[in-house]
Amino acid sequence: MPHADSAMIPSGIDKQAFWSHVHEQLSYLLAGQRDWVTNLANASSLIFNSLMAFPEFGDGDRMVNWCGFYVNAELFPAPKLAPSSETQTSQPARLLLGPFCGKPACQLIHVSPGKARGVCADAYCQKKTLLVKDVDTYPGHIACDGETKSEIVCPLLLKLPNEGSERAIGVLDLDCLALSGFDEADREGLEKIAKLIVDACDW
Ligand code: SME
Repeated sequence: MPHADSAMIPSGIDKQAFWSHVHEQLSYLLAGQRDWVTNLANASSLIFNSLMAFPEFGDGDRMVNWCGFYVNAELFPAPKLAPSSETQTSQPARLLLGPFCGKPACQLIHVSPGKARGVCADAYCQKKTLLVKDVDTYPGHIACDGETKSEIVCPLLLKLPNEGSERAIGVLDLDCLALSGFDEADREGLEKIAKLIVDACDW
C-alpha cells in the first residue's frame, strides 16, 4: 500500500544514493498499478517530497519549486460521460500538463515543427535530457514561475515492439530556484526514473 513514508530520505547520503533510493521507493509505489495518470501523480509527489527532504535541495534557496509531467495530448483519455459536441479535428502535436507538484503551470506546449518552443518541447523533440543552468539565457524558455532559475527536462521514451526507435510520449520537468541547480548526477538519476515510469504504465 503506498505510504507517505516512502518520501523519507536516509540522512547523510550523497546525490547518487539519493536518486537510487527514490528509484527504489518509486518501484514499490508503482507496483501493481498500470494507469499512467495514477502513476504519474504518485511519481511527481514522491520525487518532489523526497527532494524537499534532501538537504541539497530542501526548501531553502536551492529548492526544487516544480516537479511534474507534460504528456502528449493524444494519450489523454477522451471524455466518456459527457462527450464534447465539437467534432474532434486533428490538432498540431502538443503536450498537455499532467500530474505535478508546485505552483500552477502552463497547460499546453506545442511540439510540432515550426511551433515547438521551450525546454520541454526541445527535450521532447530531440529525445534527450536538457540541463539548463540559467533559464533566462535559454532561447524560447517558457517561464511558468518567475522565480525559477534553472531547469532539467527528461523525455519519457517508449519503445514499441514493432518500431526500431524509441518514441517520445512526454517529459519529466524539474525547476529549481538556484542557478545551476541540477548536474550530471541528477540527469543520470532522473533518466533511470523516467524509464521506470514509462515501463510501469500502459500508454
Ligand atoms: N519552462 C518550461 C515550461 C514548463 S514549466 O517550467 C513548469 C519550458 O520552457 O518548456
